[in-house]
Amino acid sequence: MKKLSTIILVLAFVVSTYGFNKKIDDKKFGYIGSAKCGMCHKKDDDGAQLKIWEASAHAKAYKNMVAKDAANAKNESCLKCHATGAGSDPKLNDAKFSIEDGVQCEACHGAGSEYKSMKVMKDQKASIEAGLIVFADDKAIETQCLTCHDNKNKPEKHVKGDFKFEEMYKKIKHNKPAK
Ligand code: HEC
Ligand code: HEC
Ligand code: HEC
Ligand code: HEC
Repeated sequence: MKKLSTIILVLAFVVSTYGFNKKIDDKKFGYIGSAKCGMCHKKDDDGAQLKIWEASAHAKAYKNMVAKDAANAKNESCLKCHATGAGSDPKLNDAKFSIEDGVQCEACHGAGSEYKSMKVMKDQKASIEAGLIVFADDKAIETQCLTCHDNKNKPEKHVKGDFKFEEMYKKIKHNKPAK
C-alpha cells in the first residue's frame, strides 16, 4: 500500500512538472539582433553597451570562423558557440536579424522579441517573464561564459588553455557607470 501511494505521488509529480515545463516551452521568443538592442543601449553615460560589444571578439566570432573555412558557415556544431540563434525560427525573428553578427547581446541576455519594448524593459520582473536572463552573482555570470568557453566542449584544435574569468570578463564588461 505504501509503495502504491509513493508511485502515485511520483507520477503526480512527473505529470505536474511536465505540464509546467511544457508551459515554459510554449512561450516562443525571437531574436532581434544587437543593432536593435543598441538603439537604447549605446549612450556613453549609460555604459556604451553597443560600442563595447562591437569592439569585442564576440561581434566577429562568426566572421572569423567563416574566414578560416567557408564550410564552417553551415556547421551546426560550430555555430552553437560562434553565432546566436542559429537554427531559430526565422518567423519569430526580426527581419534584420542575422547569425553573421556573431555572439550577440541575446546570446547572454536571452532572445529579446518580447522584452525589447520600453514599457517591458523598465520593469525587471516583466522583462524576465518575457525572456530576459539576469544573473544572481559573478558565479552565475561565469557559468554562462563557460557554456562556450569550455575547454572540454571545444574542438581540440582551438583550446587555448583554461578560461580565466576575471581577466576575460574585464574585456567585455559593460555595466552602467556608477553615478
Ligand atoms: C526601447 C528601448 C530598449 C530596447 C530596444 C532594449 N532595451 Fe534593454 N533596457 C531599456 C531600459 C529603459 C532599461 C531599464 C533601465 C536601465 O537600467 O537602463 C533596460 C534594461 C536592460 C537590462 C538590465 C536589466 C536588469 O534589470 O538587470 C539589460 C540586460 C538589457 N536592457 C538588455 C537589452 C537587450 C539584450 C536588448 C535587445 C534584445 C534590449 N535591452 C533592448 C531599454 C531598451
Ligand atoms: C563550445 C564552444 C565552441 C565550439 C563548439 C566551437 N568553438 Fe571555436 N572558439 C570558441 C571560443 C571560446 C574561442 C575563443 C578562443 C579560445 O578560447 O580558443 C574560439 C575560437 C575559434 C577560432 C579562432 C578565432 C580567431 O580568429 O582567433 C576559430 C577559427 C574557431 N574557433 C573555429 C571553430 C570551428 C571551425 C568550429 C566547429 C568545428 C568551432 N570553432 C567550434 C568556442 C567554440
Ligand atoms: C555563445 C558562446 C559564447 C558565450 C556565452 C561567451 N563567449 Fe566569449 N567568445 C566566444 C567565441 C566564439 C569567441 C572567439 C571569437 C573570435 O575570436 O573570433 C569568444 C571570445 C571572447 C573574448 C576574446 C578572447 C580574448 O582572449 O581576448 C573574450 C574576452 C570573451 N570571449 C569573454 C567572454 C565572457 C567574459 C563571457 C561571459 C560573460 C563570454 N565570453 C561568453 C563565445 C562565447
Ligand atoms: C558575453 C555575454 C554578454 C553579451 C554578448 C552582452 N552582454 Fe550585456 N551583460 C552581460 C553580463 C554578464 C552583464 C552583467 C549583469 C550583472 O551585473 O548582473 C551585462 C549587463 C548588461 C546591462 C546592464 C548594465 C547595468 O549596469 O545595469 C545592459 C543594459 C546590457 N548588458 C546590454 C547589452 C547589450 C545591448 C548587448 C549587445 C550590444 C550586450 N549586453 C551583450 C553579458 C553580456
